[in-house]
Amino acid sequence: MTSRSDIPHHIGVIMDGNGRWAQSRGQPRITGHQAGVEAARGIVNACVELHIQVLTLYVFSTENWKRPLGEVSFLMRLAEKYALEEIDELHQNGVRVQHMGQREKLPPTLLDSLDKLAAQTKNNKRLTLNLAINYSGRVEILNAAALIIQAHLKGEINIDDISPMDFTYFLYCPDVPDVDLIIRTGGEKRLSNFLLWRSVEAVYWSTPIYWPDFHPQDLSEAIKFYKDQNMQLENETRIFGANHKQNN
Ligand code: IPE
Ligand code: IPE
Ligand code: MG
Repeated sequence: MTSRSDIPHHIGVIMDGNGRWAQSRGQPRITGHQAGVEAARGIVNACVELHIQVLTLYVFSTENWKRPLGEVSFLMRLAEKYALEEIDELHQNGVRVQHMGQREKLPPTLLDSLDKLAAQTKNNKRLTLNLAINYSGRVEILNAAALIIQAHLKGEINIDDISPMDFTYFLYCPDVPDVDLIIRTGGEKRLSNFLLWRSVEAVYWSTPIYWPDFHPQDLSEAIKFYKDQNMQLENETRIFGANHKQNN
């Protein structure tokens, strides 16, 4: 029997520290974003090899619109370049790619390339890669609530019967399971509005390594931490269960 501790099905990554990585080398922040794409490529391939089912990469949050215009435009162009250039390799590796986030405000050319990537890879089964771009956990939940109200007003559902499981159906990428492991690079311990609804049981692992320096061996370390955490939880549950029986 496989238990929850064996391997995370869904890994979410807050890819932070690109700017500091570049600044520590006396380079402009955008060099860090460029190097971050290389790191992403390595981690996607590692997830394919490790038989991870779902990887969600936090590429651009709704808060990131507050950054200087030049950096925002660079990030949008970089995301579009990634979607266009990686399509063949992702497809060959059996990766299904989806956009996770609000479409409003994103440049039409980026949306076109994301749509093309999603359409070409939609039947792939090895890994689902969610690109969280213009993503906010709160907006995702608000959006789901609005969709539920619309469906209720049309008589399609009854609001009184909605379970948390039903609610998930109205989130972005509804077939994506809850996230098991959240990795944050760059040293901060914040969640920064990432996967709020789906992170109820997630294990959180933060590392000081800047994202461009994050390699597959660091991913393996995070997965080991995940397994240890779950093993500990299972042991505690067993001991607590045994004591509970003794005392009753
Ligand atoms: C993460 O790196 C990339 C994005 C948020 C787009 P940062 O750009 O936040 O890098 P730091 O945190 O300033 O070093
Ligand atoms: C989180 O990094 C968002 C992404 C990685 C896309 P930020 O650098 O934007 O987050 P804060 O500002 O530290 O919360
Ligand atoms: Mg940052």
